[in-house]
Amino acid sequence: MEGLARRRFLMFLASSPLLGCTAAGRLLAEESLDAIRLPEYLIKSPAEALDVFDFHTAAKRTLPPAHYGYLATGTDGNETLSANRRAFEDIYLRPMRMVDTSDVSLETTLLDERLESPIVLAPVGSQRAFHADAELASARAARAQEHLQILSNVTSNPIEDVIAARGKPVWFQLYPTSQWATAQMMLERAERAGARVVVLTVDLNSGSNRVLLGQYVRTDDRDCSSCHGAGGVEDFLRMTPMYEGSSVTFADFDTSDMTWDYLDRIRRATSMKIVVKGVVTREDAASAVDAGADVVYVSNHGGRAEASGWGALESLPEVVEAVDGSVPVMIDSGFRRGTDIFKALAMGADAVCIGRAYIWGLAAFGQPGVEKVLEMLKAELSMVMGQMGARSIAEIGPQHIGIRR
Ligand code: FNR
Ligand code: LAC
Repeated sequence: MEGLARRRFLMFLASSPLLGCTAAGRLLAEESLDAIRLPEYLIKSPAEALDVFDFHTAAKRTLPPAHYGYLATGTDGNETLSANRRAFEDIYLRPMRMVDTSDVSLETTLLDERLESPIVLAPVGSQRAFHADAELASARAARAQEHLQILSNVTSNPIEDVIAARGKPVWFQLYPTSQWATAQMMLERAERAGARVVVLTVDLNSGSNRVLLGQYVRTDDRDCSSCHGAGGVEDFLRMTPMYEGSSVTFADFDTSDMTWDYLDRIRRATSMKIVVKGVVTREDAASAVDAGADVVYVSNHGGRAEASGWGALESLPEVVEAVDGSVPVMIDSGFRRGTDIFKALAMGADAVCIGRAYIWGLAAFGQPGVEKVLEMLKAELSMVMGQMGARSIAEIGPQHIGIRR
């Protein structure tokens, strides 16, 4: 009798909407979560934010539709965008109790540079689309909160001004074009400005199909020529500071013929260290190391490159294995919380970059918004380190995570 009652109870649970089972047998408990969640809350100042998602709500309210669409977009049906977030659910944390964590340190080193934390600002282009102070606001926030900043080569502000605002060199991200002279000019300029590291982004060489962006643009009927130029993309490039003095056209952005020997060209042109951004497979990780990369940077461009449906965190283990400690590994795409950052560090990443999260802060409140995002992520990471019994970045390891099957 008791066995029957138990079986009936289990059958009740299995059919209950409170504990819906996915095909993979995972408990979702969606309805119970919905019941306790507050409706969307709009913060009025950075100080009110409880997590970075509060800035997303505020940014969406502030930005014109086309600019929000540019920030939010993935590719095709946003398969990779959602896989990036879903990947964190498959990893759980293993808290270790009774360790003296009264003094948790986030300090680390990357390419011989001492960093106050492993949280880095990813290169995000055209920041004037999000706030008038653009990359200068991000740089001032990075300075105040002591973070490394990577500057996009489609920055709205000249690299010289951004470095002055940060008070230290930034890392310079490069999109090559089919004209080597353009890349060479930018490399020389970045190095002259003080940059010591170039980040070559390799994940957009074959283009990307940004459907969501197109949908948002369709709903935006403002006249955009004063910022974007009347002549389309060519005009826009001429207005972008790092392309000053080049004759680059949109057609030159077809770099689909690029191969690993491009790193050789860069190395001959500059003494900056070389990071390869956009690697997701063990094959490419090995090729990047063979080609002399100083850092392998795991990224699917925040789901904006291709619709692989493969989350960045899911691709991290095979890259870490292939690199095998020969060079540092960085990662981005989908990081929103201290726990997300902790998971990547536990899986072997040396640093974690954030993209949209700080841009939400920038769009909503300018520099103070970016500062608050960075401050919150550091506080969240410190707290989870305490909960896991890790006092330093070096103490974080595979013992702190498990994989849900
Ligand atoms: C980017 N990203 C990017 N990457 C790059 O190498 N150069 C660039 O100019 C840009 N520009 C850019 C603009 C916008 C609006 C976004 C959202 C992203 C990609 C960026 O460096 C990073 O890989 C992703 O943003 C990481 O994903 P999350 O953190 O946004 O989910
Ligand atoms: C983007 C480019 C600029 O993701 O990297 O929009």
